[in-house]
Amino acid sequence: MINQELIIKAAQMISESQYVVAFTGAGISAESGISTYRDKGGIWDKYPEGSSGGIMSVISNHPEDAPQILMGVFRSLKDAAPNPGHNALVELEKMGYLRSVITQNIDNLHREAGNKQVLELHGNALRLRCLECGKQQIYEREPYFRMMTGLISQTGPFSIQEMIKSLPLCKCGGHTRLDAVTFGEAVQDYPMAQKEAQACDMMLILGTSGVVYPAAAMPDYALSKGAKLIEINPKKSPFTKNCDIFLEGKTGELLPEIVIALKNILRC
Ligand code: APR
Repeated sequence: MINQELIIKAAQMISESQYVVAFTGAGISAESGISTYRDKGGIWDKYPEGSSGGIMSVISNHPEDAPQILMGVFRSLKDAAPNPGHNALVELEKMGYLRSVITQNIDNLHREAGNKQVLELHGNALRLRCLECGKQQIYEREPYFRMMTGLISQTGPFSIQEMIKSLPLCKCGGHTRLDAVTFGEAVQDYPMAQKEAQACDMMLILGTSGVVYPAAAMPDYALSKGAKLIEINPKKSPFTKNCDIFLEGKTGELLPEIVIALKNILRC
């Protein structure tokens, strides 16, 4: 049951804000068919070591499962499309009520939905980065996933090293790698993201368990500058206690309601 009173209160707070920033996690893509990491059935629920060691720790512990795990990840990314939660953030940006999206997600869905200022702390799984010159190359979905699933299912015993070596070379001739950040690697766009979090007077915390740092420091930066926090999540998180509003539910259902309520407020 959607709490309309809280929806209107959240819309009211957004309408009174000067600088709104969204901080998103896997939950906002759950309704696009990409399972979250730590919910029941998620990849880290099945392979707990991944929660602190990432996909490479899972692959080294379960080499026999590697092709099927990677195929599952790429298939869900391939079939995904922006959902009403992503689209509501684009609407907020178009209305002038969202300055940037800081995301932990690597699925490219905020960009595909149409948000212009997207900071991808954990990189982007649809992008390859050159190990020589550092050039980042984003790929079109279809050909990219055809290539990736082809590399995973190529004959012979699966080897992650062989798969990486078979990725397309950069124009400079250098080898490339998936431009997604794995545990122990430096996150991307951090200085910009920190600046955005410290500049905002309102942060929307959308679909994250808030357990992975340094990304999970974003709401702390916002709070340290006196920002208000609104969280949307079916479950409470470590952020909930500091939020001005906690909306229990799905981003794909609640964000569009907030946009409708905001439009009604602006019409008055
Ligand atoms: N709408 C909103 N939130 C949802 C929805 C939904 N439809 N479905 C699930 N959630 C919430 C869950 O309750 C949970 O709090 O989304 C959150 C997902 O948490 P995680 O699976 O831990 O994902 P995330 O917080 O993004 O993980 C952060 O961990 O392994 C790393 O690199 C990975 O970027 C990831 C990081």
